[in-house]
Amino acid sequence: MTRTQRDAVELNPIYSRAGEATSAPRWTLPPQPMLPETAYQIVHDESMLDGNARLNLATFVSTWMDERADKLYAEAYDKNAIDKDEYPQTAAMENYCWRILADLWHSPKPEDAIGCSTTGSSEACMLGGLAFKRRWQERRRAEGKPTDKPNLVLSSAVQVCWEKFCNYFDVEPRFVPISLDHKVLDGFELEKYVDENTIGVVAILGVTYTGMYEPVAQIAAKLDEIQASTGLDIPIHVDGASGAMIAPFVQPDLVWDFRIPRVHSINTSGHKYGLVYPGLGWVVWREAALLPDSLVFKVSYLGGEMPTFALNFSRPGAQILLQYWAFLRYGFAGYRAVQTSTMEVAQYLAAEIAKIGPFDLWNDAQDIPVFAWMLKPDAARAWTLYDLSDRLRMKGWQVPAYPMPDNLTNITVQRLVIRNGLGMDLADRLLDDIRTQVAYLDQQNAAVTSGKSAFHH
Ligand SMILES: Cc1ncc(COP(=O)(O)O)c(C=O)c1O
Repeated sequence: MTRTQRDAVELNPIYSRAGEATSAPRWTLPPQPMLPETAYQIVHDESMLDGNARLNLATFVSTWMDERADKLYAEAYDKNAIDKDEYPQTAAMENYCWRILADLWHSPKPEDAIGCSTTGSSEACMLGGLAFKRRWQERRRAEGKPTDKPNLVLSSAVQVCWEKFCNYFDVEPRFVPISLDHKVLDGFELEKYVDENTIGVVAILGVTYTGMYEPVAQIAAKLDEIQASTGLDIPIHVDGASGAMIAPFVQPDLVWDFRIPRVHSINTSGHKYGLVYPGLGWVVWREAALLPDSLVFKVSYLGGEMPTFALNFSRPGAQILLQYWAFLRYGFAGYRAVQTSTMEVAQYLAAEIAKIGPFDLWNDAQDIPVFAWMLKPDAARAWTLYDLSDRLRMKGWQVPAYPMPDNLTNITVQRLVIRNGLGMDLADRLLDDIRTQVAYLDQQNAAVTSGKSAFHH
């Protein structure tokens, strides 16, 4: 390109430049560079077609933080969390954070606990599962027993990360089906699922499908009984992706954490009710001895000798700073205030949605600020929750409908995940839209059944 041609490109108004005036390539690298602002505009414009994150009521992940957090994020986006020797204070803040969590979760001796940050709960759950598997293998080898058939016991309503763990790391998943009588894993018939090859049981604090807590203490009591009759000593990992940052503040008397000796490890998503933007999870073991040394790598090529236990190597360090910021900013009372308000919004919405008419609540947001509902059976109704989901999407709201897991797949539910950032006022706008769209669907339904559908004109 000659100098004159380049100047001409720069002078062109933005939407008349190559890349805007012609389509940008999607599947091949463009042969030539384009101006940074043209590239910015193309990417920016395409991303406008994404949903509005704040109206995404399908996700558990934070979509709002205070401006100071945004500022901190912008100051720290270039820090790599793995470069612990280069960014020792980021590494130190990572340690403050998991120690704070060990304390919050009633570790008997936080100074003996061990933990780390991860990209999210998925990675954290995998690390918890790997520690179970390796401890079990080491114990079995020492006893001269086979180690080729490990299994993990979990509810059929686990989040997909546990299915991935079992698939990727060759562990047999033993799913305990949920049912209308046992809506969560509660210890019922647990003895039928565990044996000498069971590496652990997962208890979920805030089942993804519905938000309900699994009763960790009850599951532990059942495992105590099993131990008394069979000698099997089976540990629990609590998948507290959301609930581990709700229960300590909203249900402080609920015993689900390291107060139960059988709970070896707990994970949470910093980026869910930890109130940090996406990209952060945490896992903590009640004592360092529960994390087999053989899983910890000591890398020296970054300077210093840093122990690491993680699936990733490089990843953003900024979220760690944001988590520490959130801990300082909110403190215990601040987290309690934020989570309580979010619970109030969720419970209000559940109560109001129940009043609309066609819905039965599956649960009413008593555990985490999440709840689901079903359609009441009605042979005359031709619309489904998927239709309602589509109608709400036209207004910008993303409220998913989906089938329940195995055993209950004939039941379709719709779920709302309420997060910090959906205040009471916005919740009222959502309710208005749900009421309006239900009335619209009912009206269409009535028109179709009487042969007078608008679609027919
Ligand atoms: C119970 C549970 N476990 C694990 C995960 C995975 O978490 P992340 O998205 O942080 O990887 C989720 C996500 O919704 C979840 O609800």
